[in-house]
Parts: sequence; structure tokens; C-alpha cells
Amino acid sequence: MTLKTFLIGMLASFGLAWMFMIAIPVAKMGELPPVKMNDEEDAAYYQRKTSGRILNGAKIYASNGCYTCHSQLIRPTYLGHQIWRDDIAGVVNEDGDTRRETSVYDYTGEKYAQIGLMRMGPDLSNFGHRAEAYAAKLGISAEQWIAAHLHNPRSNELRRGAQGEKIDMTWSNCPSQPQMFDEKEPIGQGDSLALAGKTASGQQVVPGEQARVLASYLLSLKRDDALPTSMDYSPKQPQESK
Ligand code: HEC
Repeated sequence: MTLKTFLIGMLASFGLAWMFMIAIPVAKMGELPPVKMNDEEDAAYYQRKTSGRILNGAKIYASNGCYTCHSQLIRPTYLGHQIWRDDIAGVVNEDGDTRRETSVYDYTGEKYAQIGLMRMGPDLSNFGHRAEAYAAKLGISAEQWIAAHLHNPRSNELRRGAQGEKIDMTWSNCPSQPQMFDEKEPIGQGDSLALAGKTASGQQVVPGEQARVLASYLLSLKRDDALPTSMDYSPKQPQESK
């Protein structure tokens, strides 16, 4: 083998991979133009916006490795059916059926598209809806629920079954994040996000800045807005004939 064939071989094996895995996707998806909602002439444009605190939360999510166990990707249906799994792909509520596959626009603004490495924990694409539902069963706010989960995912106080019974969560291997919490002297009525119970010395355990920002991000996870007709490939559940 001459040096020339070796170099050409190297270029082909690394260059092609770089072109298909990096150059082409960045060129196609790096800048996403707004898309018309439908083909009518005066149709509105679709462009998802995420900003401020939520993007900061995305960074905390990334830097704490949450993506190693949690995906944020509802597969295209041709790769296996996921959109009708409970709450994972969206919900059915008074606004109708919001379940859909993930679109590339769902990550606009975020530095990383956190599709995740594996699914040891549940997919978080639409976790915002679940947080609200869990919290409603306990009569607390969704932020309070998320703070309590970040502090101790193995708490049995956080979930209720259909009959209001406690659900055993001691098996959870979601890592707790005590370093994101501070102990503080309660002032007045205390902090609204303080955890239930106090420390032995009467201090409140309150989420620090990181936990609050991460909670905002987690609560914002609702990837179920209506997509332009040209981008929505999700199969629709057959309507019952009247
Ligand atoms: C070692 C794997 C692992 C890592 C890393 C991990 N989790 Fe989890 N997570 C799980 C598992 C398993 C569950 C399901 C059990 C439970 O609800 O506690 C879960 C559940 C959750 C839930 C509740 C989801 C639901 O719908 O009920 C949230 C929210 C969550 N994790 C957030 C996080 C955040 C934020 C991070 C990063 C700070 C993180 N997780 C890191 C494994 C992990």
C-alpha cells in the first residue's frame, strides 16, 4: 500500500462519515426556516420558540447527565409504534388529541437536541403534562412536585394510584440531587417550594437556583403543539363512525 492510497482510504472512511453524520445534518437542520401551517395562501407560520430560563434549564439537564437515562424522542411510527403509549407522546384532553411524533423543531434554541442515550427512565418529551397530573393528585403545584422528585425520587409520598393508594417508588434508580438544595431558616410563611418536613434543627430544605431552573425546564417539556400539515406524519387514530 502506498502512502497515497492510505491517505485516500483515510479520507474516504473519516470524510464520508463526517459528511453524512455532521456536515449534511447541520446544513439541513442547523437553521430551520418557519413553515406554513397549511397550503392556504394566508396561513400562519409555524416556528417553535424556547428562550431564557428554559434554555438555562436545558444546560443543567445536559450537565447533570439526565440524558443518559431519559430520552426525549417519540419515534417516527415506521420505526415502531409509540404515539399511543400513555402520556409519552402527548395527551388527549379538552383541546383534543395532541399526541404526535417528535419533530426536528421540538429542539429549536436548545444547544443540544437531547434525544437521550437510553431509556432507563421514562421518555420526558411530554413530562410537563405528567408533572401537572401527579401534582394535582397530591394537591400541590407541579414545581413543588418536581422539586420533591429531584430531592428524593425514591419517596413513596409522590405518586398516587387510581384509588388514591401510594405507589412504591423505592426501586427508582433516578439519582437524587441533594447538592441542588439548601437549608434555610424559614421566614414568614416560608418558601413555597420548600420540601415537606424540616431538618432536625428546624430548617427548611429549599431548592437552590439550579433546581428551580431545572424544574422550569422539566415543566416546559410539552412537545405536543399542532404541527404544519406538511410535517405531521403521525397516524391518526381511526374515528368511530357515527
Ligand atoms: C440512572 C438513570 C437515570 C438518570 C441518570 C436520571 N434518571 Fe430520572 N428516572 C430514572 C428512572 C428509572 C425513573 C423512573 C422511576 C421514577 O419515576 O423515579 C426516572 C424518573 C424521572 C422523572 C419522572 C418521570 C415520570 O414521568 O414519572 C423525572 C422528572 C426525572 N427522572 C428527571 C431526571 C432528571 C432531571 C435527571 C438529571 C438530573 C435524571 N432524571 C437522571 C432514571 C434516571
